[in-house]
Amino acid sequence: MLRAKRFRLTAVSSVDFSGSRVRDGAEYLFVGPAADIRAGQSRAYRVGRYDVAVFNVAGELYAIENFCPHQGAPLTDGWVDGPLVTCSWHAWCFDVRTGTMTLGDFAMIPRFGVLVEGADLFVTTEPLEEE
Ligand code: FES
Repeated sequence: MLRAKRFRLTAVSSVDFSGSRVRDGAEYLFVGPAADIRAGQSRAYRVGRYDVAVFNVAGELYAIENFCPHQGAPLTDGWVDGPLVTCSWHAWCFDVRTGTMTLGDFAMIPRFGVLVEGADLFVTTEPLEEE
């Protein structure tokens, strides 16, 4: 006798949210130790469906999408000078604090929220909504 098997479809997230926090309605995901990013350096993280670049500017951490709006270069490969990162492919330059271009206003990079709790670094799972 044949028996039909029943399958239950279960939604599976690619992100483990066990290391997450909620602040002001935004969800932050643990990405690693904050000390991994020294002043003047950056580091790339996969946060849900986004590649996020976190920059340490004189001890303050800023997160933007790790994707140049020109042709998609990872901005963590760029040259960092204070709060500015210059894309390594064609030299578009952005302020990592705001996501804005320095030479025009025709492109912008989504920003993400950053939370440091103790030694732990968290990044919002979605870009911040710009006003
Ligand atoms: S891909 Fe960044 S400037 Fe061209």
